[in-house]
Amino acid sequence: MSIDITNIRKDFPILTQNVNGKPLIYFDNAATSQRPLPVIEKIKEFSVKYNGNIHRATHFLANKTTEAFEESRETVRKFVNANESAEIIFTHGTTESLNLVAYSFGKGFVSEGDEVIVTEMEHHSNIVPWQMMCERQGATLKVLPFDDNGELLVDQLDALITDKTKIISVAHVSNTLGTINPIAEIIQIAHKRGVPVSIDGAQGAPHINIDVQALDCDFYSFSGHKIYGPTGIGIMYGKRKWLDQMPPFLGGGEMISKVTFAKTTYNVIPFKFEAGTPHYVGAIGMAEGIRYLEKNGRAELAKYENELSIYATSRLKQIAGLRIYGEALHKSGVISFNIEGIHPFDLGTLLDQMGIAIRTGRLCADPVMDHFGCESMVRASFSFYNTPEEVDSFYDALIRLKAMF
Ligand SMILES: Cc1ncc(COP(=O)(O)O)c(C=O)c1O
Repeated sequence: MSIDITNIRKDFPILTQNVNGKPLIYFDNAATSQRPLPVIEKIKEFSVKYNGNIHRATHFLANKTTEAFEESRETVRKFVNANESAEIIFTHGTTESLNLVAYSFGKGFVSEGDEVIVTEMEHHSNIVPWQMMCERQGATLKVLPFDDNGELLVDQLDALITDKTKIISVAHVSNTLGTINPIAEIIQIAHKRGVPVSIDGAQGAPHINIDVQALDCDFYSFSGHKIYGPTGIGIMYGKRKWLDQMPPFLGGGEMISKVTFAKTTYNVIPFKFEAGTPHYVGAIGMAEGIRYLEKNGRAELAKYENELSIYATSRLKQIAGLRIYGEALHKSGVISFNIEGIHPFDLGTLLDQMGIAIRTGRLCADPVMDHFGCESMVRASFSFYNTPEEVDSFYDALIRLKAMF
């Protein structure tokens, strides 16, 4: 199957508008992806026809919603190839998923003097929850560094692991450097030492085929809004052997089996980790986003994104004074850079005037900024609905802006 970008773009009406009098070029896909019509229509259909709170009633609307919510769980299970749908927990996004793992795994398995390992290239969402957990449990956070190409120093991992190491949490793909980390190798090294691994898949799930059983990862988290679904919904996959033993994260309705003032007993997974009314419309929308990806051939879309990213890198490298941060061998469609003499915020504002949406700032990754001694960066990130012509316009815009400074 070869992909037809012109047709695909018709599914994304948001891309057809002008911004500041220029055709919109959306290169901020690592922040959030746009939604195709089938997702928009699914959400609308649900809101128009079926809204009823799940699992709590016997009436038609509640049953329809419950059915669709549980079907969405099954769609996600297949998407990541989990062993059973009970291992798929709906959250509000990657951030909540990682907080859930850190809190509940920490409470269940981490004690005073233990150690947790993250990497130097993590998003703040995969640093702060672990720091908070380490503070609560009296544990120490250790950091696996990366080199100036943006490659993790995986050969140092084994030495970093000790008898006290309880868990390792690492990004599948870096949101700043674009590095696709060798997570299978990391998991193997960790498992040999009996240490479970949590994967922050926020930037991995949208672009890379995931098979949690083949990877043998213990946890894998991602967000709906980065895989063509709505905001406010996310996934935390966890192996049953951990989830069964971990205490709940939030308390409330649905996560209980029986409540008395003397003692509350908890529900089975996945419900134990889904307190309160979940964002079921979001879950249904996210499942439609997954179906959209699969219908259009995930491998072909990823191949196209990869080629586009290689093309964009080659064009940006033609610009004198432009430095790219992160040139790992295996990269996804994320290019972070600075141009000598131009502040990233000025660049972002002026590009917006030209209809080009990119991200500027510290990219929720202060340690990466510190590694390169940067205050901030500019980031362009691509999706399958972007085109080489858009890359050329981006290049031309940068050349024009460079001449202005
Ligand atoms: C690598 C990575 N992890 C975690 C997150 C947090 O995702 P969310 O804001 O959807 O919770 C992001 C968001 O950009 C990310 O890129």
